[in-house]
Amino acid sequence: LDLTVAANGGNATSPLQYGLMFEDINFSGDGGIYAELIRNRAFQGNTVHPSTLLGYSAVGGTTLSLKNLSQPLSSALPTSMNVAVAKASSGDVGFSNTGYWGIGVEVQDYTGSFWVKGSYDGSFTASLKSDITKETLASVQVPPKASSSEWIQHNFTLTPASAAQNSNNSFILTFKKSGVTGGSLDFTLISLFPPTYKNRPNGLRKDIAEALKELNPKFLRFPGGNNLEGDDPPYLWYWNETIGPLKDRPGRPGTWGYQNTDGLGLIEYLHWCQDLELEPILAVWDGFYLSGPVTPQSELGVWIQFALDELEFLMGSTSTKYGALRASLGYPEPFQINYVEIGNEDNLGGGNASYSAYRLPMFTEAIKAVYPDITIIGSTPTVDPIPDHISLDYHEYSRPDNFVREFGLFDHYNRSHPILIGEYAVIEPNNASMASVDWTSGATRLAFPSWTGSVAEAVFLIGAERNSDFIIGASYAPTLQNLNSFQWVPDMISFTADTTKDVLSTSWHMLQLLGNHLITETLPTTGGNFGPAYYVAGYNNQTGSHMLKTAIYNATADVPVSVSFKGVSAGATATLSILTAPSGDSYNNVGTQVVKSTNTTIKASAGGVFKFSLPNLSVSVLEVQGR
Ligand code: AHR
Repeated sequence: LDLTVAANGGNATSPLQYGLMFEDINFSGDGGIYAELIRNRAFQGNTVHPSTLLGYSAVGGTTLSLKNLSQPLSSALPTSMNVAVAKASSGDVGFSNTGYWGIGVEVQDYTGSFWVKGSYDGSFTASLKSDITKETLASVQVPPKASSSEWIQHNFTLTPASAAQNSNNSFILTFKKSGVTGGSLDFTLISLFPPTYKNRPNGLRKDIAEALKELNPKFLRFPGGNNLEGDDPPYLWYWNETIGPLKDRPGRPGTWGYQNTDGLGLIEYLHWCQDLELEPILAVWDGFYLSGPVTPQSELGVWIQFALDELEFLMGSTSTKYGALRASLGYPEPFQINYVEIGNEDNLGGGNASYSAYRLPMFTEAIKAVYPDITIIGSTPTVDPIPDHISLDYHEYSRPDNFVREFGLFDHYNRSHPILIGEYAVIEPNNASMASVDWTSGATRLAFPSWTGSVAEAVFLIGAERNSDFIIGASYAPTLQNLNSFQWVPDMISFTADTTKDVLSTSWHMLQLLGNHLITETLPTTGGNFGPAYYVAGYNNQTGSHMLKTAIYNATADVPVSVSFKGVSAGATATLSILTAPSGDSYNNVGTQVVKSTNTTIKASAGGVFKFSLPNLSVSVLEVQGR
């Protein structure tokens, strides 16, 4: 590769080049980035997932049962847990909760609360205990305010003196059997939070949010993915049931086989955007369930209004109905939404015809009429005809070779409709006898992103960067996976309750490199072909740095590179950052990190030429020091 990079003449780059996509899949929200530690905290359920006592066990011989009391905590949370003491041993009795496959315990404050109803005279004891050694890791007495006539919230803080050896720990709540009159106490909305990212109440798990922030992402696409759509009527993602006090959120059967608490709701998503400095890309429900039912044109108006109400809730002044609702919940300042995606993958499951015929045009027209500056994103590039002035969402789940073949895909695209690459990932290895992905169940999926896959994704992303005048940005999907229970592999970040054992995949490392070397304009190059080196050159006008980003795929030997940038003279210094791994099949796993990162300083020789060589299956950035 012998490249000369021009001083100008390229494309202005989208400021949102690398971003995030989030939906609750793989226990990535509940049991994941949503920092709540208590599993099944309010016994939420419905006809799809009836309420259960999942996560709870009796302590001291109590009898636990679900009750729908005539006076529930709220209409959203009709079910509570009755803790009966008749058969209990005398002394301390109560219940325990396992958390989401354990609870990591560190030396920090844990903020907890529970609601109780019943006649009780005595104090409660909240504690964290090791399931294995039975050691008490933290304990606090909670003065009782219980009453038989109303639900009363009790608050407490637990501060462990030392960190636990592992996450095999439970939360325990006990009380004195002798203090109970009436044979039992009823409990619900039992909650325990560690310190959250930027200390947001009801916020995000710190380690995961920090790992996301390290990618330097620029947008968040939410709340799905399939989880926006709902499997079957009536369980779409109702934004209005994800707001306000937790006691007013009923939860819903998520699309991925488990109950969502909706504690991570609409406002929490916007806080996520604020705290990580992300542009929100809000997906709205558009009349289509995953299992196929399509809302007829005559009935779509209700759902268009539902989306408009959501936008008014977020952006409206406090003199509007929904802006006032937002203010009444404690958020007088409006949020700003600049991007709205209409649905998700409406090309699938029989949705395409109605999407093209009326759903996308009707939503677009209605939203544009009120918010002319919002960028509308159609959920698939297959829509036909494409309404004027809209963008489209391109998804790609494929094999490494396919991603590399798509390096030039966007060079030939219809540039009048900007593209969001809202989901992509290499999900299966190359297969000589099958080029496309095998979607049948039992197909060989990668358990974790492989290095070959991550390099192929880099090739594809570099191809997107070359066209970043009309590529809005790209987000890997799915983003998160709880290793104890998941529905989709591979994922970008995997985790358990033990916050010290997160797996930052090979693709995370590749994205960290590309996302932290943003350019503001591409620069034309001469002197090279594409393959096995795939590259983009550019300039960042904030730092004054020139860059060359390269991925090497299917090279038979190291690739020698010599590159000069117009305007960069002999003696200039650059940092060459290269990512490699021991083999293409290797992957990061719990406790195993295969990606190797090297940084070297290179000086430009006569004529301002930088010379170096790049190994096969590498992703690199040469950044010339700017101002
Ligand atoms: O990322 C997993 C799923 O893949 C998303 O929910 C859906 O949009 C796509 O089919």
